[in-house]
Formats: sequence, structure tokens, C-alpha cells
Amino acid sequence: MNAIQLPATPPSWHHLAATPAPAAPGQRVSIGLILLVILVIGALSFGAVRLNRRRLARGPKHQAPSPAPAPARSAPVSVQRPEGGWAVETHGLTKRFGTNVAVDEVELLVPRGSAFGYLGPNGAGKTTLIRTLLGLTRAASGTMSLLGIGVPAHRGRALARVGAIVDEPRFRPHLTGQENLRLLAAARGADADSRIAPSLARVGLADRAGDKVASYSMGMRQRLGVAACLLGDPELLVLDEPMNGLDPAGMHEMREMIQSLVEEGRTVMLSSHLLDEVERTCDAVAIVDHGRVIRQGPIDELTRGAGTVVQVDCAEPARAAKVIDEAGIAAGTTLTEDLGHRRLDRRLVRHRRVADDHPRRMRAIRPRRTAPQGLG
Ligand SMILES: Nc1ncnc2c1ncn2[C@@H]1O[C@H](COP(=O)(O)OP(=O)(O)O)[C@@H](O)[C@H]1O
Ligand SMILES: [Mg+2]
Repeated sequence: MNAIQLPATPPSWHHLAATPAPAAPGQRVSIGLILLVILVIGALSFGAVRLNRRRLARGPKHQAPSPAPAPARSAPVSVQRPEGGWAVETHGLTKRFGTNVAVDEVELLVPRGSAFGYLGPNGAGKTTLIRTLLGLTRAASGTMSLLGIGVPAHRGRALARVGAIVDEPRFRPHLTGQENLRLLAAARGADADSRIAPSLARVGLADRAGDKVASYSMGMRQRLGVAACLLGDPELLVLDEPMNGLDPAGMHEMREMIQSLVEEGRTVMLSSHLLDEVERTCDAVAIVDHGRVIRQGPIDELTRGAGTVVQVDCAEPARAAKVIDEAGIAAGTTLTEDLGHRRLDRRLVRHRRVADDHPRRMRAIRPRRTAPQGLG
């Protein structure tokens, strides 16, 4: 008797919005002569995406992409122009580094007044997209606008209404938080100086404003970064991985702050590789991989429509199907006879968690092991 376990393949980031539920440890489906080979493909309703753990494990930036098949593009879920218009709009936006297409014909629509997540694994092109939007690097092709203002043609006018943190906020460590903001306000001019105190208070740093930044925690530096953004009273904040390096309490504070900025009528676009955080913080999301936006829209629409494909390659698909039926997990499944694949629905997907997956900064989305009824 051979046994199969779901899954045998280590889960990866690609499980994000549609995570197949593997059997709990020790739970097995005995299916007679089935040989083995189990692939689990997490997918959204638009189609399956291949696992590519190698790319995940690559970690450091600035490397050529792995030759894994690129995911399919997909139209935005919701393309109706919101009342306030788009805070960020791009069409066919492309940025290459040599032959590496870091931003690949991105169609991005960020509704004004939303918390919008640009979600994808490390190396997916999030920072490059942001840098391109801000005019820090030049696009190869495509068009873009910020708050309805075309960039790079009118970059100065647009950026006067935008606050951004790219990569990590950088401050002079030997100066205090307040002194750092003074320097930045001097560069900004106009009313920025009068916003220093309210901005520090706004991010909860009023008490520590006189301390050197060198003594700040990562969370405090991130918050000081947001305070720096607020000096310009921006309508749009663009934050690159604002949760990076934060402990759970820091993440919680950042989440609350982002939500309150949105409640004030601002738009916050953030990039992240943490599905959980984006789900908790944002109203809408674009999922990016290999530079391409593969899905975007309101979070509730995306999760409502999400499906899961569990692909079981086996010698006797008909018999495997019977066993799965008998195990009571077949509801909503379809069998594609020719491939011997069994599609299982989202009923099996109960939990997701974010797990450490890299010794340093990288984290991955993994399914929580669940115990499908009837298996054992
Ligand atoms: N300045 C650069 N020169 C060459 N390649 C780069 C540069 N910046 C980014 N890349 C490459 O572009 C791709 C996307 O990188 P990045 O935008 O940093 O991804 P993310 O922010 O999603 O982790 C990666 O393959 C990375 O190696
Ligand atoms: Mg990045």
C-alpha cells in the first residue's frame, strides 16, 4: 500500500491568496496502488501559478530572475473608476535592467482614499515599481500618473502632494528625530516646519523627538519616516515595505497608523511580501510576481473569488478520485481525467499563516495544516 500526503512539496509564497490545505501531520489517504509524486499548486481563480521556491530562496536583490514560467496576466477585478479617481494609474509600465524585466507592462489602478497593497515576493519588482513611479528611475515604456497628474512630465507638481519611503527610511543617526525632521522641512520649505510637531505627535513620537535616532527601534524609525512624509501634508503616501523589520507590536502600530491616515482621506499605497499584513491593513491589493500584476482589486472580491487547485499526479486517477470522494473532501471538486488531476475547493482552505522562511529578512506565506474531515 502506498500512501499520499498533501502536500509533499514545501509550500511557498505562491500559496498566497489560495492556499491548498494540506493534511495534518500524520494524516494520510491510503489509495492502494497510487505511486506518489504530489504537487500542490496554490492558485487564484484565474489560474494556477507554479511553485518556484528557488526564486524565493534567492533572497538578495539585484540578481537575474530564475527562468521559471512567468505567471499569466489578468485583468483587474474592479476597473470602475472610483468617485475620487485614481491615486496611482499606470498603463503598460515597463522597467528593465538589461534583460531582466523588473516591471512588466503593469496596469495599476489605485483608488483614491484607499489603503492599497502591492503584494509580491522578494524580487517581484515592488521597489522598482515604486522607484519608477517616483521618478527615481526611468521607465522603458508605459504611462503613469499620480493623483491624476502625469509623470514624469509633471513630476515636481505631483510629488509636492506625495510622501514616500523607499526601501528603508534613512536618517542621520547622530541627530534627534526632531532635528532630522527640521533638515527635511528646510528642504521642503513652505509650511513644512510648522508640521514638525504635529507630525511627530501624529506618529506617536512626541516623547522621543529629542532623542537621537541612533537610539530608535526599527518601528520608531519607520514611524519617523511616516512623520517625514507628513511634513508635506501629502494626499498620497507610498511606503515600501513599511512592516519590514517590525516586531508584532510595531506592525500593529504601523497598521493602525496607516488606517488612520486613510480615515483622514489620504491614500496609502504600500508594498509588502506579507500577505497577512496586507489582508489586515489594506482595502485593495495588486498581486505581483516576476514584475507582472497578476491580479488586482478589492481584497474582499479577491478572496471571495479565490479557488484552490490541489493537483495530485498519480498512476490511477480514477481510483484516487474514489478515495478522495470516500474521504469526504470531494465537495466542489472536479476531475480532469486526462491529466489525472483533482481540483479541490476552498472549503479545505481554513487557515494561513506567515512563517519564517529565511534566516534574515525574508518571510514566506505558508498554509497552516488543517485536518480535512474524513481523512485518517
Ligand atoms: N538597480 C538595479 N540594477 C539591476 N537590477 C535590479 C536593480 N534593482 C532591482 N533589480 C532587479 O529587479 C528585480 C526586482 O527587484 P525589486 O524591485 O527590488 O524587487 P522587490 O522590491 O519586489 O523585492 C530583481 O530581479 C532585482 O534583482
Ligand atoms: Mg523591495
